[in-house]
Amino acid sequence: MSRQRVLFITIDFHKEDEIKESFSVASIISYCQNKGIDWIVTRISINANSCVANQIREIRPQLIENDIVMFGLYSWSEKYAKLIIENKTINNVLCFGGYNVCRSNIKELEKKYPEVNHFIVGYAEESVYQLVTNINSNKVLNNGIDEKYLGGIYGNKILELNDSIRTIRFFTKLGCFYQCDYCAHRDVNKNLIVSIPLDKVKLDLALIKNYNIDKVNFIDPTFNLQENYLEITKYLVEICFPHLVSLQVSFNSISDDFLDLCEKLNCVLEFGVQDINEMITEKVNRRQKMETVNLVISKLNKRKIKHELSFIFGLPYQTIEHVEEDIKWVNEHIDPKICKIVFNRLMILQGTTLYNRKEEFLIIEEEVDGIPFVKETKWMNQQEMCKVLVRLKDLKYIVE
Ligand SMILES: C[S@@+](CC[C@H](N)C(=O)[O-])C[C@H]1O[C@@H](n2cnc3c(N)ncnc32)[C@H](O)[C@@H]1O
Ligand code: SF4
Repeated sequence: MSRQRVLFITIDFHKEDEIKESFSVASIISYCQNKGIDWIVTRISINANSCVANQIREIRPQLIENDIVMFGLYSWSEKYAKLIIENKTINNVLCFGGYNVCRSNIKELEKKYPEVNHFIVGYAEESVYQLVTNINSNKVLNNGIDEKYLGGIYGNKILELNDSIRTIRFFTKLGCFYQCDYCAHRDVNKNLIVSIPLDKVKLDLALIKNYNIDKVNFIDPTFNLQENYLEITKYLVEICFPHLVSLQVSFNSISDDFLDLCEKLNCVLEFGVQDINEMITEKVNRRQKMETVNLVISKLNKRKIKHELSFIFGLPYQTIEHVEEDIKWVNEHIDPKICKIVFNRLMILQGTTLYNRKEEFLIIEEEVDGIPFVKETKWMNQQEMCKVLVRLKDLKYIVE
């Protein structure tokens, strides 16, 4: 049988100093190659901030040259799904995957896009492998990952660097153990965590150590979960990892052992606070004790460990006064020399609990660059939301 020709199309927000190709697609390709797949694979990453429709029309020759076309469905890319369908050839097998394909909306998607041959729910690594190798030809694929084949993106040279690339992404695991109602950085279907084998993580890190770059963003939604993270941090210290490392972490499981290692590392720890009011965090299924948060912050300040705190505005039960209390808390607790504050406007994402409770919370959204942001809730009207936006922009707490 001739080799399958597989084309991945994603629409991504390109950053000047980062690799333009999709990191998620790189992980899928690395996984399939670790399993020994024999295919011809091509990737196209369209810049979300360009004229996407024109670019889709221009890639028609590549669609003609391929058998399977995989399209990444996300909140910002879904509006181009119809155009992908219009431009596909009769011979293309079309497959949609990505965060916007979830167990909760799959029936809807099947009805909305009858031309799509396959949908991949959840982590796509194993499902893509099974589809391309004809092991599985179900309309909806939802296969669990075999962890031993995960990773090796840099060792396998899936993502190539050049001198203009200063920041790269890396991951040691996918998914998060918590289930915050607004969050889609986790597996919203089965809440699974899958980890790259430790020896493979170390191999890639040893390689990255010698790259001419400035920063490695670990994209693990919560790095300090499960057992390997301490070992990985220890390894970074041991090999004198020279680049700045950013780690997304949870206040709930910050140990002194971990902080001892962070002190020896060029790192920035990124914590979510969301809101300092425990009633509000509890309402979105987030277990967070401010006593713990305050204790960790005081340790970070004492040890002079760089960190970033992210908040969300527009949450259920959150009023304009709550946001003012958050700002007051920030002024009283953080050291601006080592701490950056970011306020994120709530996005209502497919597959999350909040997505299903929009009506109950009287949530009204507006699209900015295709991303659905909250502009009104039962607790904050549009004028108040605007006021909050202006106030946070003035404080430079909103990243634009
Ligand atoms: C991966 S989390 C941070 C680390 C850690 N997992 C935690 O929750 O503390 C990244 C940040 O993205 C923001 N975020 C996640 N989902 C969001 C949503 N639906 N709308 C707006 N911001 C969101 C939150 O502020 C969150 O802290
Ligand atoms: S916000 Fe953080 S802790 Fe909550 S589910 Fe998402 S990644 Fe996990």
